[in-house]
Amino acid sequence: MTSGRSFYITTPIYYPSDLPHIGHGYTTVAVDALARWHRQAGDDTWMLTGTDEHGQKMLRAAAANGVTPQEWVDKLVTESWFPLLETLDVANDDFIRTTQPRHEERVQEFVKALYDRGYIYAGEYEALYCVGCEEFKPEAEIVDGTGPFEGLKVCAIHSKPLELLQEKNYFFKLSEFQDRLLELYKTEPDFVRPESARNEVVSFVRSGLKDLSISRSAFDWGITVPWDPSHVIYVWVDALLNYATAVGYGTDPEQFARRWPAFHVVGKDILRFHAVIWPAMLMAAGLDVPRGVFAHGWLLVGGEKMSKSKLTGIAPTEITDVFGSDAYRFYFLSAIAFGQDGSFSWEDLSARYQAELANGFGNLASRTVAMISKYFDGVVPPAGPSTDLDAAIHKIVADAATAADAAIERFRIDEAIAAIWTIVDALNGYITENEPWALAKDEAQRERLGTVLYTAAEGLRALAVLLSPVMPESTAKLWVALGAEGSIGALADQPIRDAGTWGVLRPGSSVEALTPLFPRVEQA
Ligand code: MSP
Repeated sequence: MTSGRSFYITTPIYYPSDLPHIGHGYTTVAVDALARWHRQAGDDTWMLTGTDEHGQKMLRAAAANGVTPQEWVDKLVTESWFPLLETLDVANDDFIRTTQPRHEERVQEFVKALYDRGYIYAGEYEALYCVGCEEFKPEAEIVDGTGPFEGLKVCAIHSKPLELLQEKNYFFKLSEFQDRLLELYKTEPDFVRPESARNEVVSFVRSGLKDLSISRSAFDWGITVPWDPSHVIYVWVDALLNYATAVGYGTDPEQFARRWPAFHVVGKDILRFHAVIWPAMLMAAGLDVPRGVFAHGWLLVGGEKMSKSKLTGIAPTEITDVFGSDAYRFYFLSAIAFGQDGSFSWEDLSARYQAELANGFGNLASRTVAMISKYFDGVVPPAGPSTDLDAAIHKIVADAATAADAAIERFRIDEAIAAIWTIVDALNGYITENEPWALAKDEAQRERLGTVLYTAAEGLRALAVLLSPVMPESTAKLWVALGAEGSIGALADQPIRDAGTWGVLRPGSSVEALTPLFPRVEQA
């Protein structure tokens, strides 16, 4: 199923200086759900994630643990970052590490190409640097410290003191790209989404761009500047290039032409790197700019951005061990408007698990399969003539599928799930209204009973397909229980953009017992 248009989507590459938390997991499952949707629609899909392993932050974390930076990242990546993908059921196509030769060599080539094209020059620099952000901070993000940091300048994001750095650096002529960037945002209004992120980027660029320091000489944990081995390439320049090196930039022109340009999904904390610096770097190299950058909001815990450095970090396994990976994926992707901040709380998670997953979707699946077993010996009955009630379901399913696909095009996974959930609610209402248990008592209503149960089962068929990108595990179980695997093929092969077409499930197929999709959990 790869005949369709190219869809290449990336997560940020994470710093493995520390353990993953639910914020990293949030971005990753969002990108995975978008990738799974497009893959199932037949688009030529490629999902990339990975780790950003150079820089001062990594060097210090390694030193604090008494090992070399390479030993530190190898340990964290194998013990924690690869397993995160298993924990969250992520089907990425590739995982890039910036310490891999396939990346390091191409980064040097890219930077050399910019140097040769005259976009890089040597200069003196003195500015306040935040190691947490790995960034020289703009005025607007420097604030006065409080408590132990009274009297010091601190980073507005990390609340940690900034360091005054004075170095000879190489600079990238970012200031030359101001007009071309503004033109890009104008001609491609969807280049930065959502609207609020776009506005922020446009006003930032309008206020004027300074050239960017792109090398460091005070430490050596990085990729060497090819024409001056006393410098390493600035970790953000190194990191952004992963999106190109991972798909064959400089080594595999065919693969690069097939995949590039990408869509980038990032947290709003790193929007400017992706929507300003990265397209300017690509323009300077004569390459296509990304297809778009989508910035999502922050997960807040107790009203503040959740972060490991502020000790509010929650490990994804704390959630998946209790509720499972599907519930993790469903919760974060449905409860938070994609693009806005959202508060995480255990109460909210438990309540939604119970109401929407266990009582809503899970119960609909269990009772439909159980009634087919009980009243039709486990064989999906044929549908008789449709009534208005049935026709209303057909229309809700068709409309929901169309609306969900349109929402996914806008990257609004939350809106897609809300559209799909109209099917769950409608089918639960339909069963209550039609009372199949009452119809079963009257032999004269046998055909009607069959129609009602076929309608519920066929609605579940559509739900399994539409929800599989968000909840791959439970929808796969449901698929088998509906007897669909044997009669209409694998769930992954069902074209998602046709999911709303009515009448795909075959009467005569045998259902199988279904254990609860979302079992009762002991309160965390
Ligand atoms: N290494 C850089 C990214 C380089 S991309 C070329 C980096 N890494 S990070 O480990 O700090 O990850 C940042 C990303 O993790 C955010 O952009 C966001 O996607 C995710 N999140 C980290 N904390 C988060 C929240 N509290 N809430 C939501 N997302 C969060 O920056």
